Amino acid sequence: MDEATLRTAHAGLLSSEDIGNQVRVAGWVATRRDHGGVLFVDLRDASGIVQVVINPEEQPDLDDVTHALRDEFCISVLGSVRARPEGTINPDLATGEIEIGASEITVLSPADPLPFQIDDRADVDEMRRLEFRYLDLRRPRMAANLLARSRALQAMRSTLADDGFLEVETPTLVKSTPEGARDFLVPSRLRRGSFYALPQSPQLFKQLLMVGGVERYYQIARCYRDEDFRSDRQVEFTQLDLEGAFWGQDQVLAALEPVIAAVVKALRGLDLETPFPRMSHADALARYGTDKPDIRFGMELVELSEVFSATEFKAFSGAVEAGGLIAGINGGGLGLSRAGLDGLVERAQALGAKGLVWMVVEDDGSLRSPVAKFLSDAELGGIKERLGAAVGDTLLIVADSPPTTRAVLGGLRIDLGQPEGHDELQFLWVTDFPVFEVTGEGRLVAAHHPFTAPVDVAEMENHPEDAISRAYDLVLNGTELGSGSERIHDPETQARVFRVLGISDTEAKERFGWFMRGLRYGTPPHAGFAVGIDRIIAILQNEPNIREVIPFPKTQTGLDPLTGTPGPVDDAQLAELGIDLRPEVKAALEEEAGGFETE
Ligand code: AMO
Ligand code: AMP
Repeated sequence: MDEATLRTAHAGLLSSEDIGNQVRVAGWVATRRDHGGVLFVDLRDASGIVQVVINPEEQPDLDDVTHALRDEFCISVLGSVRARPEGTINPDLATGEIEIGASEITVLSPADPLPFQIDDRADVDEMRRLEFRYLDLRRPRMAANLLARSRALQAMRSTLADDGFLEVETPTLVKSTPEGARDFLVPSRLRRGSFYALPQSPQLFKQLLMVGGVERYYQIARCYRDEDFRSDRQVEFTQLDLEGAFWGQDQVLAALEPVIAAVVKALRGLDLETPFPRMSHADALARYGTDKPDIRFGMELVELSEVFSATEFKAFSGAVEAGGLIAGINGGGLGLSRAGLDGLVERAQALGAKGLVWMVVEDDGSLRSPVAKFLSDAELGGIKERLGAAVGDTLLIVADSPPTTRAVLGGLRIDLGQPEGHDELQFLWVTDFPVFEVTGEGRLVAAHHPFTAPVDVAEMENHPEDAISRAYDLVLNGTELGSGSERIHDPETQARVFRVLGISDTEAKERFGWFMRGLRYGTPPHAGFAVGIDRIIAILQNEPNIREVIPFPKTQTGLDPLTGTPGPVDDAQLAELGIDLRPEVKAALEEEAGGFETE
């Protein structure tokens, strides 16, 4: 078949300049409306929509086919372009001034009755949308997201190519790469009992590319992490991964800013101001209570511990004695009712607080609060002064361990200050992350990953909890878009970091010996970064979650409803791999399969 026999024009590109022309268009029946025997069909192709009019009085031989037409049939239409009659012009449609008077209609493919309306206004269950993703992708919103994604990738590639970066692919059947999540494993048939892992990122390969003399590397890389789901996480996602030899933090940030600016230009048509502001990790925590601050608005955290150093108020004195942090935010003129204020207390508790003190500044300047009677005049004055309180303001105070106080106030701040809409884009570099985090069980783990250079190696060994690394994040409107670091480039430092992490030399050799050996062959100092592509596109497209910008995503529980994956495999396939399912797993599978049959 030849396209010319199916169409000579693209629906969405027709205009009044085509009036009088005979054209053939092909696409899908987006809507059909019967007006007293005259049929109006909105025909949609990738370029847009055009109205086709079928008048049985003019074209009696089209009667059969027009009767058969249903939503989402794939058709080809021959007709002449004409001006729409006075009063029927649609200013909302690019082709709203014209229509096609059909003289011939061919059904290329019929469509079964639809599982849901292909309409951006239709509120369809997401499972259903994913099950019929190919129909979902016909919706203008999804088509726009695919287009935006393609443009973003294009902008990244061309900016980096112009900057001398080499696009290099790295393998996806690898030895486990530690990024802090669980690995997906792939059993080997030729070496039964052995497994590949899917890469959590190309981290170690890109570092070895630096050893290999590739001085500027990038890749649009698929990463796999078996981790708990959130709206901005998928088990399978895409990074813009890059690395530069002889580079430090400043070169990485300077290389990334034009890439981000090109993506924003392509998707939003905006010229971003660069360089982006920078803030240290410690400042971000102190001022915004989080390592990914949304700096589109103020409402900063203010430390109040000093005001209460000798307080009689139990909730506060207890926190001070336990080495805690008392801090507050000025929520501004919230004008909340008592119930609204109680709602804030509940929200604070949900965020982990033991309680929340609220205070409202009355017209006479006094503070209305259930706890005002427990506080001295000096304390009340100190609160007002530090929080810059004005008449009508609502002040919120939390006393707890420093991480809890910050998390609670940082969370309340986002709830209260979240600007309407997403239009403003506020990028921010957060720098000087700690080397390690302490887990709930008191174990040290790498805050970024164990290949990140500590600022001072001896300090890192002596005071691991306080040690600062050369790691940095990119934050957009309160979302972490990406992370990177200057890397360790000598095997001795690498071994020392592993030791602090409790990874013995033997274990390090077994897991990373192949990589550590590479570091012994003239490794250039290097640094890099990875941007979460799904995240940046979702934000720029105003989408609430990254599934909306992934063509075929998985659900929150890692399922693909389109293909029914993951699913069981044949016994023969398992046998070939030398794998036996544990009896209880097998029993559960059989029960499930039985359950399906009786449905
Ligand atoms: P990191 O683990 O911080 O760094 O990942 C970088 C960015 O990838 C995105 N991302 C995700 N997006 C969707 N779903 C997920 N499950 C998911 N996990 C991460 C985020 C995140 O900021 N190798 C290092 C980078 C480096 O050091 O160069 C790395 O992968 O936007
Ligand atoms: P309580 O002493 O628990 O009755 O609490 C008295 C008031 O102090 C209540 O309004 C609590 O919400 C508040 N409160 C209790 N603990 C804290 C805390 N750790 N930080 C802030 N406010 C608190």
